[in-house]
Amino acid sequence: NTGDGTEVELPFVEAVNGDNGYDISKLRAATGNVTLDEAFGNTASCRSEITFIDGEEGILRYRGYPIEQLAEQCSFVEVMWLVIYGELPTKEQVEKFEDELVHNMFLDERMRDLFRCFPRQSHPMPVLSAGICALSTFNRNHVGLGAEDVEIATRKLLAQVPTLAAYAYKNSKGQPFLYPKYDLSYVENFIRLAFGTPAEGYQFDESITQGLNALLVLHADHEQNCSTSTVRMVGSSQANLYVSVASGVNALSGPLHGGANQSVLEMLAAIRDQGIDPKDYLEQVKAKKAGIKLMGFGHRVYKNFDPRAAIIKKYADEILSKSPNGDKELLSIAKRLEEIALEDEYFVSRKLYPNVDFYSGLIYEAMGFPVEMFTVLFAVGRLPGWIAQWREHNADPKARISRPRQIYVGHDKRDVVP
Ligand code: MLT
Repeated sequence: NTGDGTEVELPFVEAVNGDNGYDISKLRAATGNVTLDEAFGNTASCRSEITFIDGEEGILRYRGYPIEQLAEQCSFVEVMWLVIYGELPTKEQVEKFEDELVHNMFLDERMRDLFRCFPRQSHPMPVLSAGICALSTFNRNHVGLGAEDVEIATRKLLAQVPTLAAYAYKNSKGQPFLYPKYDLSYVENFIRLAFGTPAEGYQFDESITQGLNALLVLHADHEQNCSTSTVRMVGSSQANLYVSVASGVNALSGPLHGGANQSVLEMLAAIRDQGIDPKDYLEQVKAKKAGIKLMGFGHRVYKNFDPRAAIIKKYADEILSKSPNGDKELLSIAKRLEEIALEDEYFVSRKLYPNVDFYSGLIYEAMGFPVEMFTVLFAVGRLPGWIAQWREHNADPKARISRPRQIYVGHDKRDVVP
């Protein structure tokens, strides 16, 4: 009811957002949707063209392309382009883009001092976040919202976050930094900067490079998860792209978000070390025994298999069968847990399926990555998604500052008694 007696049919989103030519205050008054409108506008935080998830079916697509096709057939650099610009690049476009990124991986030399001032054992995530904020000061002439500045910031971040991530790790180990090399790909440069040494460089293993490429693709975006909605929210105040992305890194550093694969690894190791039969472990989970949880199962949006988990499982088999670092015993415990849980009514009726974190930690470990790098790898993977989401928000002429709605549950009015 438009408020003057006429009835029209409007899609719900348009009706509550008021972008339909009708007087929104009259619409609200007539439909009584005031509460719903405020809640919708503030908590269903955005419309987005970037990532589609169907949690019931277990479907994930970037810009319409199924994740399994992208992970099998595309480089991470192609997927970055897709996520940020909306289309897959041509061969020429991607070659030029990757070349430009690799040539821009060098950091301003003064950034080295920034790293040196952190204590040796600092976790790489806060160091990475500080490094990204610092990038905004080194690029202070291009932190505006205009198209050119946003493009410069996009390219700088894509080129330099892997270098920052690698140096944050090197710093935590007290090892010297390496310079990027023009004849290596983007992903190869990241691996070498993180794990190479000045004396020996880095011995590349094709299966590790390919596996990491696929894992980065699988993590490139996941719509409004905790870190991405943080980037969008910070960006909604028109804070620049650098500091908004740093906020995403901070959100990701929490154990419930980026640290979940580490908890899976710890659970599997505990099952092995304590000699627990996987079936008995699941019985303890069902009995809700204190401290016993099935980590890496279930997801806020997936009520089915997380499509990323199925792809990752394949890489886990491939990489662990070749790697001297991989813990095959932990992989077989993981598979056994999955097998039993998927046949158990308790887990099936609760729609508890493996998520992306269930196998990723095992693979990273097999690739030789230490545990403190797991979230850093997630951040490098999620970077294009954060950038794309920030850009999408700020390109919308109707974009407003985000402000989640609060329901006040505190005291009624009370008086200070003199
Ligand atoms: C992610 O990829 O960000 C995680 O699966 C968490 C989420 O989507 O909520």
